Amino acid sequence: MATDIDIAEGEHRRAGFTAMTEGTAEDWQIISSHFMAFAGKVADRVLDHLRLLDGDYGGFPVDRLQHSLQTATRAHRDGRDEEYVVMALLHDVGDTLGSFNHPDVAAAILKPFVSERNHWITANHGVFQGYYYYHHLGLDRDLREQFRGHAHFEACAEFCAKYDQAAFDPAYDTAPLAFFEPMVRRVMARPKRSTLVKD
Ligand SMILES: [Fe+2]
Ligand SMILES: [Fe+2]
Repeated sequence: MATDIDIAEGEHRRAGFTAMTEGTAEDWQIISSHFMAFAGKVADRVLDHLRLLDGDYGGFPVDRLQHSLQTATRAHRDGRDEEYVVMALLHDVGDTLGSFNHPDVAAAILKPFVSERNHWITANHGVFQGYYYYHHLGLDRDLREQFRGHAHFEACAEFCAKYDQAAFDPAYDTAPLAFFEPMVRRVMARPKRSTLVKD
């Protein structure tokens, strides 16, 4: 039976190789034990990253965290399931690191944990959201038409119409992040699809 001392020592165990070509099964057992603990906290890291959007207005009437919370609140109150609500909450989490392609960042984070449809909505919401403002910037608001006929076109258009483009109201009764945290932890508890997980 493992004692506290054994566990503490286990936390400090390291693989013995200096190049992967020298790796052994024992090395990879050590690394795997660290990975499971690390991967189990991915929801916490994502939530920490979402909090970075707090106070970041970028000229909008609400900051990016409030926009994210309001998008999720609107989806939740409209009866969407938990996975969809989490997708709505995190759809702009890539704003800080992916300033020129934020949907790609959020889509990559969500990909292991959500349906193919919810992943597609996240990955493409930027162009669909453009329907509501590209023309004000001299751009083509109908850029989304390149996806017309795609199986998830209507779902993505609906996400933007009902929740994303509507989530800039400072007077809206937006739920706090604490309300959504358990949902994020449940949805991200186990990947649905990953090359690191056996079926
Ligand atoms: Fe966005
Ligand atoms: Fe958004």
